[in-house]
Amino acid sequence: MTYIEKTALDTKKIKKEILQLKKEHNAVILAHNYQIDEVQDIADFTGDSLELARKAANLDADLIVFCGVDFMAETAAILSPEKTVLLPAADASCPMAEMITAGELRVLKERFSDAAVVCYVNTSAEVKAESDICCTSSNAVKVVQSLDEDQVIFVPDRNLGSYVARFTDKKVMPWEGFCFVHDRITPEDVINARKLHPDADVLVHPECRSEVVDLADYVYSTSGMIEHVCRSEKKEFIIGTEVGIIHRMKKDCPDKSYYPLSEKAICITMKRTDLYKVHKSLESLTPRVTVPEDVAYRARLAIQRMLDIK
Ligand code: 13P
Ligand code: SF4
Repeated sequence: MTYIEKTALDTKKIKKEILQLKKEHNAVILAHNYQIDEVQDIADFTGDSLELARKAANLDADLIVFCGVDFMAETAAILSPEKTVLLPAADASCPMAEMITAGELRVLKERFSDAAVVCYVNTSAEVKAESDICCTSSNAVKVVQSLDEDQVIFVPDRNLGSYVARFTDKKVMPWEGFCFVHDRITPEDVINARKLHPDADVLVHPECRSEVVDLADYVYSTSGMIEHVCRSEKKEFIIGTEVGIIHRMKKDCPDKSYYPLSEKAICITMKRTDLYKVHKSLESLTPRVTVPEDVAYRARLAIQRMLDIK
């Protein structure tokens, strides 16, 4: 009893101090849709990778506190080199982004020299610097369709690559990377969830395997899913992505029911950020994310080409 009261009090105090520190530093807190509830609630803006990248590029602030994973903070630092970018959980990495290196991509480029290189934003700055254009889950199809080349090297997500290939005559060559959170969702998960909730729409993220995509009603980025549940006349939804997004859905559309397609869909690194780390980060102005300008310059071209596609 005493312990719970103390924690609640501390949280209140921490939130107040975060708001104060934010003001002092002219800071903005950006949070991805998978962040823990308290972090989403303290953020100035919550969104998917594309929305967060656009926001980071156009913010009127001196400091960005990025509550997400490293590649997202790096993208913000590349787009806003004049701003200080903080990643409160220094070890918040994306395992899929680590599945391809710039060296491996250079070998592919030599082998398929006529192909364009599309890299998912879930990559390091060095890999972006080797790419022609970036994409996110919400614009991958548009990005690939915008290219003049007939062949496309698509890194690192094999599932997003296969999803994009459904919508184009181009030869899409996906790298063998994957997201462990989405790749382990199975067709049986969809079949079982539909039995339990026969009236629900099934929404999945394109990082899911093809067999899962085939069984879904809709395929969306995280913010695409939020838009869908809010505008749909349906009342129940089975959500095939990281479970943290359900907090946003309940906030934005409280009168509907949301069921995770898999209770195991948890991204541990997305969950490493908490209010204490956000507070500490704003107080110490660390850990700071920077990208050397020679890499940032080339990566910026690939990101900007993506942002220029409406
Ligand atoms: P979104 O861009 O759809 O939010 O996806 C980011 C991500 O990391 C999905 O695993
Ligand atoms: Fe990376 Fe998957 Fe986590 Fe997204 S959910 S940050 S792709 S590991």
